Amino acid sequence: MLLPEVIHTRHLRLRKPLVEDAHEIFRNYGNDPEVTRFLTWATHRQVEDAFEAVLARLAHWEQGTEFSWSITLPGDSPRVMGMISVSPDPRRAWNWSLGYVLGREWWDQGLMTEAVRAVTAQLFAQPGILRVWAWADEQNYASMRVLEKVGFAREGILRRWSLHPQVSPTPRDCWSFSALREDFMLTST
Ligand SMILES: CC(C)(COP(=O)(O)OP(=O)(O)OC[C@H]1O[C@@H](n2cnc3c(N)ncnc32)[C@H](O)[C@@H]1OP(=O)(O)O)[C@@H](O)C(=O)NCCC(=O)NCCS
Repeated sequence: MLLPEVIHTRHLRLRKPLVEDAHEIFRNYGNDPEVTRFLTWATHRQVEDAFEAVLARLAHWEQGTEFSWSITLPGDSPRVMGMISVSPDPRRAWNWSLGYVLGREWWDQGLMTEAVRAVTAQLFAQPGILRVWAWADEQNYASMRVLEKVGFAREGILRRWSLHPQVSPTPRDCWSFSALREDFMLTST
């Protein structure tokens, strides 16, 4: 898989995470329960939690099981505003999933829509990827809006699909969204 380590968008630079991003990740979103509310991972309690998370993402990159980019401003800013990740479905090589998070300070400026659009375009530029999908907690309206703005179609409810420990100890109902290569290529040209 030839996914680039750096992706440029109009307002952002997405780059492969660095171990030292952990400090920024912890400070800017990992320790914020409002940000992690609908995520599968627990709010970071100490910076070591962020280090562990970055090291796991870097290991996944090497293994080819998940590719993540730190969301930064253009240039060499050390600021890490968020993260966006994609993973291949091990049993369906044409189907990749997408997940993302952004620090609260940067919400509602269209930034994640821009990042999701750019990463989805990168995936569809790879031969063999036909479908990109994501799920969102049924109450995560901002995330669903991002996917709709990029052109993902709302497919249906996945009942008891994902564990969001900040909201509930049992799996939550989620909406499934997907984009197909043929539709995305048509709308993005
Ligand atoms: C979801 C998230 C990534 C959105 O990032 P963002 O950069 O703020 O997204 P954008 O600005 O591109 O778009 C957000 C859209 O949601 C809308 N929105 C925000 N809060 C909303 C709410 N409570 N109800 C309905 N719409 C909402 C915004 O108005 C905007 O839509 P618009 O452009 O039509 O006005 C960000 O809120 C986040 O990181 N949340 C926590 C982590 C998370 O939930 N990740 C996704 C897991 S599936």
